Amino acid sequence: MKVGIIGCGSIAKFRHAPEYKANKFVNEIVFYDRNIERARNLADMFDGQTAPSIEELLADPSIDMISDCSSNEQHHLITTKALLSGKHVLCEKPISLTIEHAKEIVDAQKLSGKKLMVDHNQRFTRAHQKAKEIILTKELGKVLTFRTTFGHAGPEHWGVNKSNSTWFFKKERSGLGVAGDLGIHKVDLIHYLLDDEIASVSAFQGSLDKVNENGEPIEVCDNIVCSLKTKKGRLGTASFSWTYYGEEDNSTIIYCEKGIIKIYNTNEYQIEVITKDGEKVFYQLENIQTNDNQTTSGVIDAFIKCIQLDEDPLVTGEDALSSLKVILGIIEAAESNSVVTI
Ligand SMILES: NC(=O)c1ccc[n+]([C@@H]2O[C@H](COP(=O)([O-])OP(=O)(O)OC[C@H]3O[C@@H](n4cnc5c(N)ncnc54)[C@H](O)[C@@H]3O)[C@@H](O)[C@H]2O)c1
Repeated sequence: MKVGIIGCGSIAKFRHAPEYKANKFVNEIVFYDRNIERARNLADMFDGQTAPSIEELLADPSIDMISDCSSNEQHHLITTKALLSGKHVLCEKPISLTIEHAKEIVDAQKLSGKKLMVDHNQRFTRAHQKAKEIILTKELGKVLTFRTTFGHAGPEHWGVNKSNSTWFFKKERSGLGVAGDLGIHKVDLIHYLLDDEIASVSAFQGSLDKVNENGEPIEVCDNIVCSLKTKKGRLGTASFSWTYYGEEDNSTIIYCEKGIIKIYNTNEYQIEVITKDGEKVFYQLENIQTNDNQTTSGVIDAFIKCIQLDEDPLVTGEDALSSLKVILGIIEAAESNSVVTI
């Protein structure tokens, strides 16, 4: 298989390109970035080629699939075009910045008949898959409440432009601030783990600490905390932050009728189960991918497998659209100081 990667920044360098390179079915990667230097760097690093334009990349009949690793505001343009050019697409999250644009992508997928997967990679970690398995056995009874958080020191330490002028801080490009960057991962995870959907939300947000290149507070939230209620009546809290300095927190706790499942709550064990009578069971699985520790996510292998076997991807466009709706609802709730029904 031959792959095209559009957008040659950090996620392309640390996840997509190495995982395609490691997949035995991929024989060539073609890189495109509107900053040609970045495309050349990755082509050198991963023994690939560069394309002169998106149009030429998408017109190449030998390319089977595309990773859309561009910035958030570009996804609906690039992913839609790639699908309608007959390519399978792995689109980075968030699927887009608006419901209308996400629907455009979902419609393009249906029209094209090609595979579309969105990179909500939290579904693929062993601990999250094991936690889902534990919930499904019902040994801990029904899920009643949950608590989830995702925070790190901020995208100005991660993106290819490591400065306060990063697009992640710009309203028109990142759109949703930390909510769309980190929060959407956990919304998708809660939907997946609980086989449920968040139905109403309230929230507070702030631009508490991050400043742009002129020293002014950034235009999007760097912190957001929310209360959530699901369709099946579960209650939860969530906090998402770009100001967890010193250590990342990527943990989720699920409280059930007969015990608790703590996921990524300690460094030593990825899951700790505590039963009602105090018994503890620890699971040592694999560490979650963090900005500083990019282990293999499994997303690329899963994407290729679903193409080869003609199966539905684990994260569909519709899944990504429903998580986007929740994030837009959370931001609306914070801005309007009200409870929003999704
Ligand atoms: N799934 C995850 O865990 C995860 C982690 C980090 C980032 N991401 C997502 O990946 C995407 C990229 O993030 P990043 O951290 O790599 O950002 P980045 O700033 O490091 O890289 C983005 C690259 O895209 C290029 N680009 C933007 N628009 C383009 C266009 N129209 N044509 C060609 N190239 C274009 C830029 O020049 C830049 O090189 C974002 O949507 C982000 O939310 C996902």
